[in-house]
Amino acid sequence: MTITSSPSWAALGTHQKALAATHLRELFAREPNRVESLSLSFGGMFYDFSKQRVTAETLRLLTELARVAGVQERAERMFSGERINVSEDRSVLHVALRRSAGPFPSSQFDVMPDVIKTRLRMAEFAERLRAGKCIGHKGMPIRDVVNIGIGGSDLGPKMMGQALRSISHPALGVHYISNLDGAQLAPLLQTLDPRTTLFVIVSKTFTTQETMINANTARNWLRANLGDDLVSENHFAAVSSRPERAVEFGVSGDLVFPIWDWVGGRYSLWSAVGLALMIAIGPHAFDEMLRGAERMDEHFRTAPLERNLPVVMALIGIWNTNFLGASTNSVLPYNESLKYFPSFLQQLEMESNGKSVSIGGEAMDCATCPIVWGELGNNGQHAFFQLLHQGGRIVPCDFIAAARSDFPLPEHQEALLSNCFAQSAALAFGKNKDEVRADLENESMSAQEIADLLPHRVFAGNQPSSTLLMSSLNPGALGSLVALYEHKVFVQGAIWGINSFDQWGVELGKAVANRILPAIRDQELAKLLDASTQGLLSFARKHL
Ligand code: F6P
Repeated sequence: MTITSSPSWAALGTHQKALAATHLRELFAREPNRVESLSLSFGGMFYDFSKQRVTAETLRLLTELARVAGVQERAERMFSGERINVSEDRSVLHVALRRSAGPFPSSQFDVMPDVIKTRLRMAEFAERLRAGKCIGHKGMPIRDVVNIGIGGSDLGPKMMGQALRSISHPALGVHYISNLDGAQLAPLLQTLDPRTTLFVIVSKTFTTQETMINANTARNWLRANLGDDLVSENHFAAVSSRPERAVEFGVSGDLVFPIWDWVGGRYSLWSAVGLALMIAIGPHAFDEMLRGAERMDEHFRTAPLERNLPVVMALIGIWNTNFLGASTNSVLPYNESLKYFPSFLQQLEMESNGKSVSIGGEAMDCATCPIVWGELGNNGQHAFFQLLHQGGRIVPCDFIAAARSDFPLPEHQEALLSNCFAQSAALAFGKNKDEVRADLENESMSAQEIADLLPHRVFAGNQPSSTLLMSSLNPGALGSLVALYEHKVFVQGAIWGINSFDQWGVELGKAVANRILPAIRDQELAKLLDASTQGLLSFARKHL
């Protein structure tokens, strides 16, 4: 039986019809204190979902759906190391990466010795580098670290590095390069001293085109600048599940850090993929981040479904996607330090659950992952929020903010927070015709002017949102935040019955790019391609 044919799904459909005409205004009028029952707290986090179009009954039905879908059983299968990533025949054990003690997942299949050994090696290297004892050219200390990687080998550490820049090492530059476009690497190289630069090449496969081309360019730049004196081992470290490929590239074996096939790229921030981050914030803060994630793992594993933060967040998403028909989910951080969080989440959510085939290979008969997108909320207010307020589409929003600023300036934080809270309120409650008319009458407008303007000034409201408010962006809270979204994705995948841990959808484009690359120069090869691609190639060739 698919989840959509379960009585729970049907009950939610019926409930949605009954609730459809009820505006958020009415829900608040009926239940003024709904924030008390429709919110959860965890550690230093407050999750307010009272501005979602739900009632206690919706939550009860959704929780029942999670029970029917076997969410907790599936989570236990992950935590016990079962090979739940069936299409790649792998366990899914990123949770092991933040465990403080082993054995895990079992004494027969214990990954912890490798995890802990790698954590210690990372910490030793990071400490040495932070203390100026990591030697570049002719005894000079390394001053800049460039992480070269893409997707999961870039987004997690880059996002977290930005989030924790207030505690980053003050004298070290840590940079992230992912894009094939030389316009990212070339200007950075102009600012770096090759004698004191270390490149960390992060690639699980060590074959990813973008990463390998950027790594080769880095090596050529070092060669061109340091000539025969280049000791390549002093300028490279690597993270890979194929260490032999990193050594072949020229990385010293003792600076190649492993990852394992049971860690998906988008779940790998906690592993050696976080090496550049650890260099920036130090092993202690990195460890606090792991502890924060571990606390969320424990909560996810043990809290009852209705008080379980990742479960409730996932269920709200299911409600919005499958019962209210929302096709997108906007992520709106009101905190400059979270500026990369929306793009991190895009990979986490869309690469995990952007699928239309069930784990058993059947075509899905319901929508799955919404289109996740977002931007710093305060900037977005002066750009795309117009559509959120008056575009007539349902766009559920995740507002995310920290009560305390890491960079306090007089006036800023209070104003920022009031904007964040104002937007979710305005989106929820809107402004009806009577309210707009009263405003316009106060502006002494004529009846005709009011009639003309009124439709433009009405806000329908009823736009659902949640607000995740953190006390501050400390490493532990951020670890919990990321683990929260990881488990949310897990729960949604479990309910939809899809494999959240493979990503076959990214392969076709890579294969086609490999066919097109030689055709850029070779016109005979180009003739084998479709007419549109030929047209594009012929224009590009003239201007390359
Ligand atoms: O192409 C998608 C992807 O495989 C992601 O899943 C992964 O995070 C990224 O590319 C980078 O892969 P790698 O670490 O092997 O270079």
